[in-house]
Amino acid sequence: MADLEEHFNHTIEKDRRVEPRDWMPDGYRATMVRQIAQHAHSEIIGMQPEGEWITRAPSLRRKAILLAKVQDEAGHGLYLYSAAETLGADRAELTAMLIEGRQKYSSIFNYPTLGYADVGVIGWLVDGAAICNQVPLCRSSYGPYARAMIRICKEESFHQRQGYELLMTMMRGTEAQRAMVQDAVNRWWWPSLMMFGPPDDASPNTARSMAWKIKRHTNDELRQRFVDMTVPQAEALGVTLPDPDLRWNPERGQHDFGAIDWSELKRVISGDGPCNARRLAVRRAAHENGAWVREAATAHARKTAHAHET
Ligand code: ACO
Repeated sequence: MADLEEHFNHTIEKDRRVEPRDWMPDGYRATMVRQIAQHAHSEIIGMQPEGEWITRAPSLRRKAILLAKVQDEAGHGLYLYSAAETLGADRAELTAMLIEGRQKYSSIFNYPTLGYADVGVIGWLVDGAAICNQVPLCRSSYGPYARAMIRICKEESFHQRQGYELLMTMMRGTEAQRAMVQDAVNRWWWPSLMMFGPPDDASPNTARSMAWKIKRHTNDELRQRFVDMTVPQAEALGVTLPDPDLRWNPERGQHDFGAIDWSELKRVISGDGPCNARRLAVRRAAHENGAWVREAATAHARKTAHAHET
């Protein structure tokens, strides 16, 4: 046991990857299952806010792009559930925990999409924040998670660019289109900052996850990086970020920004956001309506296995 623990600690210290068959502390396994499951659920629930606009896309080109993007999110969910399975988690059980509200998913997907500009702003800000958070996770200590993240980040980068390009197009359009973009930015800016999680002094998991090199940066570090990255993009786009306290601080070499309403994040995480009930109801209905597919696939697998035996 002492040898196994030493080997694990050595792996972390040397920045090598922990693999599924390796011994790992129970707390490490539980933390990884928690984070990967929450992340997978976020990808799957995250299909909904934009998925609602597929039938209302303004052109065939926009529809094809959005369809591809939403399908990518489904794929990300699947890689992540597979990564959780390498730790002994059961995908059916994880899905049950999500639809019964026993496991979390990202707060950001509990806000409504009110117009097509929201599709662009989700790509720019939400996927931009996701990239900021996930690029360092490509070096996360758990091998299957880190490897899944490499592929996911490549696709997220396409998502971010399609969003920015959509917004650029709208900003070159009519006054009404520019107003739609600004309105969407006003609604999504603060929730995007909340995606990074509670501030460091109120984040119970960060210290341990950093020590295990699951997380490579704290929530506040990544939030700051996102703000610094986004301000020049907003300028290029010609939109105003809705924060009167946002300004460059030459001493820190970073932007200062206004106070985040942490009570809102708490409310949304605990199930009381604008769309929590709707998101879970849609997911639950999709699961129930898909029961026949799971039954047919299981029956087919049984039949095929039987045919191979005989
Ligand atoms: N929405 C919902 N729950 C959150 C959020 C959020 N924005 N931020 C933090 N939480 C939860 C944590 O999961 C944790 O839950 P617990 O009760 O299971 O412990 C709790 O609030 C306390 O937060 P932290 O101690 O800061 O938790 P952690 O160290 O796990 O950090 C973070 C949170 C940054 C989200 C981390 O889990 C992470 O990097 N996850 C991977 C990325 C991810 O899941 N992204 C999803 C959205 S991106 C997308 O899908 C496009």
